[in-house]
Amino acid sequence: MKVLLTGRSGQVGWELERLLDDVVATDRATLDLSGEGIPAFVSKAKPDVIINAAAYTAVDKAESEKNLAMHVNGVAPGILAGEAKRLGALLVHYSTDYVFDGAKKAPYVESDATAPLNAYGESKLEGEQRIRASGCRHLILRTSWVYAPRGRNFFLTMKNAKQPLRVVDDQRGVPTPSRFLAEYTISLIRKNAEGLLHLVPSGETTWYGFARAILGESAAITPIRSSEYTTAARRPANSVLDNAKARAILGGNLPDWRTLLTKMHG
Ligand SMILES: NC(=O)c1ccc[n+]([C@@H]2O[C@H](COP(=O)([O-])OP(=O)(O)OC[C@H]3O[C@@H](n4cnc5c(N)ncnc54)[C@H](OP(=O)(O)O)[C@@H]3O)[C@@H](O)[C@H]2O)c1
Repeated sequence: MKVLLTGRSGQVGWELERLLDDVVATDRATLDLSGEGIPAFVSKAKPDVIINAAAYTAVDKAESEKNLAMHVNGVAPGILAGEAKRLGALLVHYSTDYVFDGAKKAPYVESDATAPLNAYGESKLEGEQRIRASGCRHLILRTSWVYAPRGRNFFLTMKNAKQPLRVVDDQRGVPTPSRFLAEYTISLIRKNAEGLLHLVPSGETTWYGFARAILGESAAITPIRSSEYTTAARRPANSVLDNAKARAILGGNLPDWRTLLTKMHG
């Protein structure tokens, strides 16, 4: 299985490159998703599987760079999908919990209505829609709150932050290590999974709960409301993804987010 991977320097791409044997791994310098070179690059690589781990992920900055976010997250996945269709390749693509508005009181399932609150969510939803419309074989994996021991993420921000801290306690979600995503992505490809799946660990928390779990009970952290912490982009109050469909395909339970965080601590 020859894989063309985008986003090799990102949290998920970094892990995937290390787990794949036959891979052409690209970064922005070799394959810029905001540029014109996608069809020529894919034609030359002739992959069996394209894994698109690259994305415009700066949620707040996307509010002032809507066109760029839409091109990288919305238009480029559609172009990759067109190339996948032409080659008969599978396109694996990541999407986000931020396609939802957060009004639901229970975890979101794949068939729930989407209604993004911010430009990032809109651009990621556009990517999903263009992939589906292309008619290519695809696996779209929605995930949330991705973190790793490297890169830009909440886990490292908390570890490096000066206490006392104030952290939002009224947004719920599921922290997801990039290693978990990479491993289960490969398992799902091996099981010939296709379509739309929510891929997150089990359980849920708030950003405050996540911070408390990262830093421990003795850390100086105060829970606050979203209204006390102004950001450019609005975020959903509930973006917990239900992973039951992925669990059924994988044939077993998925680990709890706390167990995975403990492993990260070593
Ligand atoms: N991070 C999260 O919390 C989160 C939550 C839900 C869903 N997701 C989704 O999960 C996937 C993986 O996210 P991640 O956390 O691994 O992201 P990440 O660490 O921010 O990495 C994104 C990668 O995309 C690359 N990239 C950005 N613009 C590009 C362009 N124009 N051309 C080529 N490459 C470009 C970046 O390159 P540079 O290093 O050069 O910028 C980086 O390597 C994405 O689809 C994301 O939307 C992430």
